[in-house]
Amino acid sequence: MDRNAKRVTELKWVEVAVYDELPVQTGKTVRYRGHEIALFRFTSGKVHAVQNRCPHKNGVLAEGLVCDEHVYCPMHERKIHIPSGAVQKPDTGCVPTYEIKIENGLVYVALPEAREVAV
Ligand code: FES
Repeated sequence: MDRNAKRVTELKWVEVAVYDELPVQTGKTVRYRGHEIALFRFTSGKVHAVQNRCPHKNGVLAEGLVCDEHVYCPMHERKIHIPSGAVQKPDTGCVPTYEIKIENGLVYVALPEAREVAV
């Protein structure tokens, strides 16, 4: 890194899926530059994205059973509220969530991206 530069992290909108191709009430795994994301499309039409790893022991959340706004981790069935990422009691923890936007039938996720800027 240049001595006259510093590293900053910014959010970048990344196209990850076609809205109409997303399964309803089922997870879908998408990957982008080291990020692994679980997308969920609810029957209401809303789409949410969370990190695709359970905070307990890295279960793949996109493979879990979806019930209303929750996903049950396929490994040990911890219940996670998808919109907030909160693990439900009696368990604890949180899964990072991502901001979503839908434009022209495409689903975009806001992902952190580091870059250098001159100082
Ligand atoms: S890895 Fe998800 S509940 Fe254990």
